[in-house]
Parts: sequence; structure tokens; C-alpha cells
Amino acid sequence: MAEFKELSPDAPAAAKLMNWVDNRFPASKLLKEHVTEYYAPKNFNFWYVFGSLAMLVLVIQIVTGIFLTMHYKPDAALAFGSVEYIMRDVPWGWLIRYMHSTGASAFFVVVYLHMFRGLIYGSYRKPRELIWIFGCAIFLALMAEAFMGYLLPWGQMSYWGAQVIVNLFAAIPFIGPDLALLIRGDYVVGDATLNRFFAFHVIAVPLVLLGLVVAHLIALHEVGSNNPDGVEIKAKKDAAGHPLDGIPFHPYYTVHDIFAVSVFLMIFSAIIFFAPEAGGYFLEYNNFIPADPLKTPLHIAPVWYFTPYYSMLRAITSEMMYALIACVLLGAVLGVLKAKIASIFKAVIVGAAVVLIAAMLMIDAKFWGVMVMGGAVIILFFLPWLDNSEVKSIRYRPDWHKYLYAIFVVNFVVLGYLGIKPPSAINERVSQVGTLFYFGFFLLMPWWSRLGTFKTPPDRVTFDPH
Ligand code: HEM
Repeated sequence: MAEFKELSPDAPAAAKLMNWVDNRFPASKLLKEHVTEYYAPKNFNFWYVFGSLAMLVLVIQIVTGIFLTMHYKPDAALAFGSVEYIMRDVPWGWLIRYMHSTGASAFFVVVYLHMFRGLIYGSYRKPRELIWIFGCAIFLALMAEAFMGYLLPWGQMSYWGAQVIVNLFAAIPFIGPDLALLIRGDYVVGDATLNRFFAFHVIAVPLVLLGLVVAHLIALHEVGSNNPDGVEIKAKKDAAGHPLDGIPFHPYYTVHDIFAVSVFLMIFSAIIFFAPEAGGYFLEYNNFIPADPLKTPLHIAPVWYFTPYYSMLRAITSEMMYALIACVLLGAVLGVLKAKIASIFKAVIVGAAVVLIAAMLMIDAKFWGVMVMGGAVIILFFLPWLDNSEVKSIRYRPDWHKYLYAIFVVNFVVLGYLGIKPPSAINERVSQVGTLFYFGFFLLMPWWSRLGTFKTPPDRVTFDPH
């Protein structure tokens, strides 16, 4: 136990109170380590505000969620009506609900931008692999949270969206039908499903999310932040042991982040007050119709943040399976001919390819669609070990890498757009090419990320005082 510190009886009351706390709980120490003496690189730019914004949105979602729960009824007969009651009769209920529904979309906007920053500055690379892995787990939890929350208003889209997605699990061989039954708690989406999704949405997943965010930040503060130059600031320290290119998080970045929060809140309020449905993208029009198990909507589309993955799911037709089999074959042939590994490992590659291709021929394309959709997120976990580039930051990579990242973004947006549209022959073909590009980008990264002429990163970060 640390020694008790005594202050002079003449010390100000606030100092005495703080001292009383510090003798029992390391409040000042934590504040110092994580805020006033957490040294962050001085060259942070606009891309570095999205972590704080994600925390803000998390708080908004939890607080508005608590108030919604006070009036919402998790009962298939009452849920839709209780949401209408919140919108019309509960004082400020409309504001709380629109904050929560807009907050869901804002969360994904902010988190997608936050992830993209990590991608371009190589923030997932050694020693920050765990920050990235916790981030990917957060992303998965966020998707589960959004999916289950969407069932709660019990509108047509809530109902049929859940029906489509839960049925996908039934495509898994052997365990699928039982798994889908376990998730639904019934043979169709019904009251039991609503109750369990409610339990997961309001307590189980938020707890996991909060735990993961804490782990994400502990990992970040253990190794320190990366920056737009990808230069490790801890390599050069002053006599006091502080990084030469570091500045205390408070006040410098608290001010930076407060500015970002102000801009964010202006946009957030503008949407809430003037366009809370965002043209059907944040709140789908079909969801203003109560769930009707006897009436399937003509066009079932998930909310925008899921649509890139939904496009990939729809891209996997039985015809597309031949293209995937060709990819597996090509991968195996290249592995055998090009990889510098012992022949026993080459035999393993051939064996694995044969088993995989046999499974691809035998199991329905729907199952592989589910695998591709899940794989699109799971592959992100492996990013730290896929990237072999000499430098971390995009700033010092060959120019064509920048174009490749730009195409990656355009491709992701196109996939998202196609996921909203009703299926058509041309949309299907484009999403198939898009899916191949998405996976090619990651799976071939160990090869292409090494190619080209790299610029030499500077010793110290580049910084223009302003
Ligand atoms: C609830 C969601 C999340 C919250 C609240 C959150 C919070 C934060 C905060 C506050 C930071 C430090 C400030 C900054 O660098 O922007 C940070 C850094 C980071 N986050 Fe997240 N994050 C979330 C989700 C994610 C996701 C989904 C990923 C990636 C899959 C991710 C990857 C990273 C990485 C790699 C860093 C270090 C960046 C660097 O030092 O350059 N985060 N996060």
C-alpha cells in the first residue's frame, strides 16, 4: 500500500478533498497517465478525431437507449405501438428516438472513417496489432447490436430483415437449422425472438462493447498513438523522458476534439431536426408499417451500413461458385509453384484445396454466400499480418498504392449502393466483380504491398505550426 500523504491544514479545501481521494483511489495518477501527461504525436490531423467521436456516439446511444427502454414494450403485440407512443405522447420522446436512430447511422459513419484512418496510416501494424484486433471485435459487436436493435420497433423491415438474416444461419451444414431455431427461439421470428433480441440489445452486447472499448484504449495507451507519418515518436525522447514530438493530450487534443465534437453535433442535430429519416436510409419507409408475417415486402434491404456485405452475400450465386473454385485452384497452383516451403507443406496445400473444392461443389451456394459475407469482416482481423509494406503510412508508399486504396473505397461504396437496389442481372455481375476485388485486395496484400518504390520516412514527424 502506498504511504498516506498529509497536506497542510491550510491547504485549499479542493486540494484536501483530492488528496483524501488519492490516498484511497489513484484518481490523479490515472488522470496524469491518460490525459494530462499522455503524450500524443503533435502531427495529428483531421482523421484523428473519429476515435473520440465514436466514444461520444457510444455515450449518446447508451443514454438515449436508457430513456427509450423506460417507455418501450418488448412484446410482439405492443412493441410497434409503444414506439409510436414514444414518438407522439412521451415528452421529448421523438427527440430521444431520433437521436438513437440517427446515432446508429452516425456510429457507423464515424467508425468506418476511424477504420479507414487506421488502414491508410498503417495503425494496425506492430506494435498496435491488439488495438486493431480489439477494434475489429468492436466492429463485430456493433453490427450485432445494430442488427438486434433493428428488430425492436417491430415494423415490416424489422421483421423481414431479421427473418432473412436468421434464415441464413440455417444454410450452415448439419447445425444450421438448429442454430437458426436457437436464435429465433421459435420456428418463425416471433415474440420469443423479440424478447431475446431485446435482452441482447439493451444489456449483453453493450456490456461487451464497453469492455472492448476499454481494452482498445488500454492497448492504445500502452504502446502510444501512431500518426500520419507512421513515425514512432517514442524513439526520440527529451531529458525528462517525454517524446520530442509528443504533446500532452490535455489541453492540446482535448481542444482539438471539442472542436470536432461541435462540428459533429451541428451535423447530427441538422439531421435529427430536418431529415431524421435521411430519405429512407436511416429509417426505412417500410418500417413505419407494423410487422405482418403474412405480407412479405416486395424489396427487403438492410440499412445502408450493412449493404456492402449484403451485396457480397447476393453475389455468391451457383454460377459465381465456378469463379471461386477457379480462384482456389489458382491459389493452390501458385502456392505449390512459387512458395519457398518444404514439400510436406505443398502437399498440405494440395490436400486442403481438394477438400475445399469438393465442399464447394457439394454445399449450396447460399452457404458460401454466408461464408463470404462473414469472411469480409473476419479478414480484417488478419490485416496486421497481411501487410508487408516497408513503411506504415500511405504518405511514403508508391503512388499507385494510393490509387489502389482509392479504388478499394469506391468499390466498397459501389457494393453498398448495389446492396440497397433490387437485384438485377447487371447489379449481380458488378457485385461479383466487386466481391472478387474486395477479397483480392486483402488476400493478395502480402504480395502487392511489397512492390514499388517507397519513399524514406523522416526521422521526426512532419509538422507545420498553425
Ligand atoms: C466504439 C467504437 C470505437 C471507439 C469508441 C474507439 C475509440 C478509439 C480512440 C478514442 C482512439 C484514440 C484516438 C484516435 O486515434 O482516433 C482509437 C484509436 C484506434 N482505433 Fe478505435 N475505436 C472504436 C472502434 C475501432 C474499430 C472498429 C477499429 C478497427 C477495426 C479501431 C482501430 C483503432 C486503431 C488502429 C487505433 C490507433 C490509431 C493510431 O494510433 O493511429 N477502432 N480508437
